[in-house]
Formats: sequence, C-alpha cells, structure tokens
Amino acid sequence: MAYKGFVAAALTLATLSNAKPLNRRVACGDGNTASNEVCCQLFPLVDLIQSELFDGGECGEEVHESLRLTFHDAIGFSPTAGGGGADGSIITFADTETAFHANGGIDEIVGVQAQFISDHNVTISPGDFIQLAGAVGVSNCGGAPRIPFFFGRPAPKAASPDGLIPEPFDSVDKILARFSDAGFSPAEVVALLASHSVAAADNVDPTIPGTPFDSTPSLFDSQFFVEVLMKGTAFPGTGNNEGEAKSPAAGEIRIESDELLARDSRTACEWQSFVDNHSKLMSAFSDAMVKLSVLGHDINDLVDCSEVIPQAQPLPDNAGPHLLPATSLDDIEASCDSTPFPSLTALPGPATSIPPVPPS
Ligand code: HEM
Ligand SMILES: *[C@@H]1O[C@H](CO)[C@@H](O)[C@H](O)[C@H]1NC(C)=O
Ligand SMILES: *[C@@H]1O[C@H](CO)[C@@H](O)[C@H](O)[C@H]1NC(C)=O
Repeated sequence: MAYKGFVAAALTLATLSNAKPLNRRVACGDGNTASNEVCCQLFPLVDLIQSELFDGGECGEEVHESLRLTFHDAIGFSPTAGGGGADGSIITFADTETAFHANGGIDEIVGVQAQFISDHNVTISPGDFIQLAGAVGVSNCGGAPRIPFFFGRPAPKAASPDGLIPEPFDSVDKILARFSDAGFSPAEVVALLASHSVAAADNVDPTIPGTPFDSTPSLFDSQFFVEVLMKGTAFPGTGNNEGEAKSPAAGEIRIESDELLARDSRTACEWQSFVDNHSKLMSAFSDAMVKLSVLGHDINDLVDCSEVIPQAQPLPDNAGPHLLPATSLDDIEASCDSTPFPSLTALPGPATSIPPVPPS
C-alpha cells in the first residue's frame, strides 16, 4: 500500500520538479523536514529501529550484525552469475541464503530483522530495511560517517546464487576478483573493510564468541588497520580454525583474509593510508557503502533520503591511532613505503586481554 503511494508521489514530484527550486524541503508534519515527502515515513521508523533494535542507540552486537548483513545481502550480485544485489533476498529467501557456508551465523540477525518488520508492520521493502538499519546502526559508533541512504528498492525476485560471498580463507586473488566482478576496485575493498573496525566474530572460533577484530569494537576508528598489521601470536585457543590467523592480543581475533589484504602489494598502501587519516577513512568507507547499498539497482531510480540518517558522535578526544600496551613499532609489519606506517606510540601499562562484545 505505502508502495503505491510512494510511486505516485515520486511521479508527481518528478512532474513538478522543473517549476520548483531544487532545494525545496517538505514539512513532514512531525517537526522533521525532508527533501522528498516519501522520506517522511522513515523518521519514525528510524526512531523505532534505534529504540527497539539497537537498545536506544548502542554500537554493539546488533549494530555489528546489521552492518554485516548489508554486505551479505548486497554482494549476492554478479553480472554473470546473477543475484539481485541489495534487494533483501537474504530475508525473503532466508531458507536458501542462510544455509550458504559464508552466511554462518547470519540467521540470527536475519531472524531479528524479519521479526521486527513483521511486529511493526514495516511497509518498506526488505532491501531498503537492511540498508537503512545498517546506516542507522553505524551512526551509533563514535567516529562514523553519516552514510547516505537511498530509498525505493523493489521487492526481491529470487534468492541469490551461492558462492558470491567472500570467505576468510579465500586468497587475495579470489577476493579481489569477486569484488571486481561486483564493480569494486582493490582500494574500495580496503575502504569497505573499515567495517571490521566495528566487528566481532561468533563463528570463526565458536569457543570464543563475541571476539572483536580490534581493541575498540564500538568506535569507527583506524585501530583495526593498525592491529591487523601487528605481529600475530598464538594465544591459547586462537589461531586454530579455518580462516583464522594469529592475533596481536589475547581476546582479539584476526581472519586470514584481513591479514593477507593488509600485506598484499595491491592493497597494502591503501590499508596503511587509513592508519592516521580518519577523515579519509570516513569518506572512503561512506562512498563505498553507498555503492554497495545500491548494487543491483540504478541509483537514479531511488530517492535520496539521507537526511533520515543520524549524525554520529565524533571520536572521543583521547581516541587516536595507537599501539597496544607493551608493544612497539618493531611489532608492526609495515607493508608499503609510499604511505609509510606512522610513528605511533603504545598505550601505557601491561599487555591486556581484549574483552568480548557482549551478546545483546
Ligand atoms: C574480504 C571480504 C570479507 C570477508 C572474508 C569477511 C569475513 C568476515 C567474517 C569471517 C566475520 C566473522 C563472522 C562471525 O564469525 O560471526 C565477519 C564479520 C563482520 N563483517 Fe566481514 N568480511 C568481509 C567483508 C566485509 C564487508 C565488506 C563488510 C561491510 C559492510 C563486513 C562487515 C562485517 C561486520 C560488521 C562483521 C561483524 C559482525 C558481528 O560483530 O556480529 N565484512 N566478516
Ligand atoms: C499490524 O497490523 C495488524 C493487522 O492489520 C494489527 O492488528 C496490528 O495492531 C498492527 N501492529 C502495529 C504495531 O501497528
Ligand atoms: C588524507 O587523505 C586525503 C585523501 O586522500 C588526502 O588528500 C590528505 O592529504 C590526507 N591527509 C593526511 C594528513 O595524510
């Protein structure tokens, strides 16, 4: 129902658009203003997502999983193999897609979002919902960019084929080829991996659920790019599983694909460039996320509703790239000369274990 209203409203606006100033804003009636009236319905939905799905606005497990879901839905897209991209097929055809090996553990957030959609009679498409929840969720992480949101994805037609989602044990050749097939350059792959700055793994090593990829999993900072370049140690119980590498601290996980991409000549310079350039990290990630979020669609068919996405808090003053306690630059496996690894110092104190991300 809301969908028909949306199409009609979009057509009306398109017809009138020549006579209106481009920056005309619409009053939504609830105090919000939007660039297009179809965006108005999203403001209360964003509030509901924050209060019901993200526990009032935290950057915790539910946000991390929702961000991962944006990727696993969207990357099911290939000009040759098929798949509808960011179309919500991972929710609508969950029985098929959650069974894919690369989707291990994704059934949890798929179930949570599907239940939310049904409990609250959400009328936007599942493809829109997944990308909206991801952008809203990221805004809860200090230091994150405001990821633009485009609205109007149609309902999915079919499940995506298996084999399109990268795995942590894949080679760099295979990963870059898969992303290239979907339209992403090696630099964009590195930018997208900033997502692993707000991330933990439950399934890579099921004996240590909630193990973060860096020491600051609720901040969108560059610590992930620092810590993946540190020497790995075989801490008890880690580094033994398929796709799992040795990590720089107890309680922290590193996957093989991140370890290899950080050190490969095709990606290492971009990787190191993010260590002390937070504004570049934000803008490159945001740009690549927009591209990911519209895979399988023509962006010109969608309505820019970016104003519904909250603005994240900046990084706290005391956050900044640093080495882990009791380490030094000798522990960095610098991998590019043209964007040299910056001269960071270590946090004071003895080596500590990184606490897990609590389940929500
Ligand atoms: C080379 C490509 C990638 C590989 C091989 C990869 C692999 C993985 C693996 C194995 C996990 C742990 C899952 C678990 O055990 O629970 C994970 C988590 C995660 N990934 Fe990726 N990933 C890739 C790219 C991306 C991209 C592009 C995004 C961005 C949108 C993303 C977002 C996340 C997030 C947010 C998590 C944390 C989920 C949580 O904390 O529950 N990943 N990834
Ligand atoms: C959702 O729709 C059903 C059936 O129309 C209705 O009974 C229910 O109250 C609605 N729930 C909400 C949260 O609006
Ligand atoms: C950060 O990256 C931007 C974009 O590549 C670049 O123009 C700028 O010089 C960089 N800043 C620093 C401090 O390296």
